[in-house]
Amino acid sequence: MSNLEELKSKLKSLSAEYAKIRSLPPEERRAFGEKINARKQEILEKIRSLEESKRLLDIKPVDVSAPFAKNSPAPAFKQGTKHPLSSELEIVSEIYRNMGFNVIESSQLDDEFHMFDSLNFPKDHPARDGYDTFRTEEGFIPPAHTSTMQYRALTRFKPNLETLGQIAVVIPGRVFRNEDADATHEHTFYQCEGVFVSKTATLSQLLATWKSFFETYYGQSLNIKTQPGFFPFTEPSLEFKIEKPKSLGGKGDGWLEMGGCGMIHPNVLKTAGIDPEIYKGFAWGGGIDRLVMLKYGVSDVRLFESGKLDFLKEF
Ligand code: DAH
Repeated sequence: MSNLEELKSKLKSLSAEYAKIRSLPPEERRAFGEKINARKQEILEKIRSLEESKRLLDIKPVDVSAPFAKNSPAPAFKQGTKHPLSSELEIVSEIYRNMGFNVIESSQLDDEFHMFDSLNFPKDHPARDGYDTFRTEEGFIPPAHTSTMQYRALTRFKPNLETLGQIAVVIPGRVFRNEDADATHEHTFYQCEGVFVSKTATLSQLLATWKSFFETYYGQSLNIKTQPGFFPFTEPSLEFKIEKPKSLGGKGDGWLEMGGCGMIHPNVLKTAGIDPEIYKGFAWGGGIDRLVMLKYGVSDVRLFESGKLDFLKEF
């Protein structure tokens, strides 16, 4: 008989002892009861400690040098899913790729030159304050817009002007602004920038390009509207709006601001080493989170960065 079984049978025989209490004279009952109770606790304690050592002995040793799957053949976690913004950014990039654009990713840490100087922001001009820009102590900038990539897109793809007669690039990326967050504002969000240069680029090509992007993304024809805007890196500059898609509850009276655009300012082309007397360009840029919110009826932009699994699992 194992030690454990022995103890368990002792425990059983103790129950018979309890029955004896009644046959004892009343003045002895209490002392007798206490004695068997103490005995019972003692046995129970021994059983507990024997069971614990048995449990420890049963644990299989871990081979720390083995690949993960050997020690845990059936991982206890489930396969995750892509973040909705990652999936939508892939869709956005694919639409532009099909239209003939190169796709490059935006930088997440940049500097004064790319964020402002190369984009024709005059030095110490108040327009630099309009972007709620974060700065690191070392003077780096987590960019507040994907336009921070325009100089790189222009210089990197400049050889295409010789070979293809055009530069066509889109730049999706993460941007940061020092803003108070609410249901429609986040300090961290996504934008997609577009840059096109050729000898004959026109404003109507710009509007047609951006419009057909939105129509492909929402899978239906859309009305667009533009209003004059101001950006130091475009002249003229426009604000671009689309009519709220009918499939998403639009009744023809909801115009949604989708971003800014315009003809690339000659100074921006010049800084990138492209002769504005020969080449013209257009550029556009707008938020991605808002596109996705409209597509799926997401009411609070903060959900995207919240890490809330309930929300993320819906996609
Ligand atoms: N970068 C601007 C913003 O975040 C949007 C923008 C305006 C982008 C005009 C452009 C442009 O490329 O040409 O507010």
